[in-house]
Amino acid sequence: MLELKNICFEVRDDSGAAAKDILRDVSLTVDEKCFVVITGPNGGGKSTLAKLIMGIERPTQGQILFEGRDITGLSITERAQLGLGFAFQQPVRFKGLTVQDLLSLAAGRALDVNSVCGYLSEVGLCAKDYVEREVNGSLSGGELKRIEIAMQIARSPKLSIFDEPEAGIDLWSFQNLIRVFEKMRETIKGPVIIISHQERILEIADRIIVIADGRVKAEGAKNDVLPQLLVDSGACDFYKGLRI
Ligand SMILES: Nc1ncnc2c1ncn2[C@@H]1O[C@H](COP(=O)(O)OP(=O)(O)OP(=O)(O)O)[C@@H](O)[C@H]1O
Ligand SMILES: [Mg+2]
Repeated sequence: MLELKNICFEVRDDSGAAAKDILRDVSLTVDEKCFVVITGPNGGGKSTLAKLIMGIERPTQGQILFEGRDITGLSITERAQLGLGFAFQQPVRFKGLTVQDLLSLAAGRALDVNSVCGYLSEVGLCAKDYVEREVNGSLSGGELKRIEIAMQIARSPKLSIFDEPEAGIDLWSFQNLIRVFEKMRETIKGPVIIISHQERILEIADRIIVIADGRVKAEGAKNDVLPQLLVDSGACDFYKGLRI
């Protein structure tokens, strides 16, 4: 379904000289209806990888295939039209659009208030307080994050990528968020990729990919990779089992 072949991404300084390798020779395959969690230490390259898949950044080398088609040269819009969807680690605000407008745009049809309420309650937002709210700076980080997750549910793309959906979500809502992803896993239509540091989310995965220092450090079935991650795990040592 999604295949990354030898992806490299380097950034250059102002003089054009290669300054830093962010991703080095990353190859992976994500199968149809597979629930994949990408994890790894801060700064390892996870968000960059998601941006490359969505076309927000372009690889310096390598190829990205989606449903067998080479999409490496396609724009963000073309990839979205093919059915790729992305929820940012830090969601974007849409001044002038209401939550109802935004969810309607995501769904590709005008949603009535009841439908909007349905999506909002899935992510634990009291719908009547939000339907007409503008998606601007007045929303808290956690509210915005949940609205973005609701957008992906409304859009239901063939391939969904969520970058740290738990970021900024309070503990109580986090339990609900886990339920949202558990449900998504049951009703999965295409692959779902979640970037996360949370053990509860890792536990839902079919497969886990660990990215550190711009490389794939481990990849495999959850039952094989998770125990390695949890060896001697403590707040600071989560990745110790892999000796990253
Ligand atoms: N355009 C850029 N210019 C310079 N450095 C960049 C650029 N984009 C990413 N980086 C660097 O690449 C590294 C990987 O960043 P990335 O955001 O992909 O990490 P991450 O694995 O998502 O980390 P986190 O868990 O903190 O979200 C970081 O060191 C970051 O500072
Ligand atoms: Mg990130």
